[in-house]
Amino acid sequence: MATMAISVPIIDYPAEDHETWRRLCDRQLDLVRNVACQDFHNGFPKLGLDFTRIPDPSVVSARLDSLTGWTLVSAQNKFLDAKEWFDHLVNKRFPVTDYIRRPHEFDFCELPDLFHEYFGHLSLFTHQHFADISEHFGRIAVQAETEKQLLDVARIWWFIFEVGFIKEGDDLKVIGGALLSSPGELQHACRPEVPKHPFTIDHVTATPGMYYTYHDFYFYLESVEQIHDILDEYARRESMQP
Ligand SMILES: [Fe+2]
Repeated sequence: MATMAISVPIIDYPAEDHETWRRLCDRQLDLVRNVACQDFHNGFPKLGLDFTRIPDPSVVSARLDSLTGWTLVSAQNKFLDAKEWFDHLVNKRFPVTDYIRRPHEFDFCELPDLFHEYFGHLSLFTHQHFADISEHFGRIAVQAETEKQLLDVARIWWFIFEVGFIKEGDDLKVIGGALLSSPGELQHACRPEVPKHPFTIDHVTATPGMYYTYHDFYFYLESVEQIHDILDEYARRESMQP
């Protein structure tokens, strides 16, 4: 049964938090300029974010709803387990936290904070093709009957939407929201000497995601369409409905 949607509470943030948001946006906009994928750049302005004020979740949710039929729900300030996470996706809901890092966590915070969600992830959800791909992930994941299958789909998601690269012409551009919202790992991952491997199901599902340190290597997609091919192939292998 589907989890009930939990609306994102409206919070009256202190000025210090708005200042943290402003500083984070300021720095990160500069860092992503030459390395983010085109769909990030095309989608970002559609979010209509005010770089001086923490976004109002109801406004951003309504905007996404009008663009692609997706809405925001509260992630309740914790890591959702894979089942909860994909249950939201299949219902076209993107979970966001309302927590923003404290000033002393400016460079790194353990929990995904709202800067990570809004800046790192939501641009892609302004495009119908990414909204549909995310729903596709949810459809595959909710068919998982074993922990292994759930972990596989979670790793495929992770190595695309959190720390993935995608080919654009002769370049590899960043598509993953964890990289796009993390100054340290973004610069690390984009170094030419850090390996980027072609995305294959076998390699990716055998690779653990690193939540608290940088990854030693990353994966890249040939195209956006490849994501559907990956999910179809995985479903075929595991006798799931594509
Ligand atoms: Fe994330």
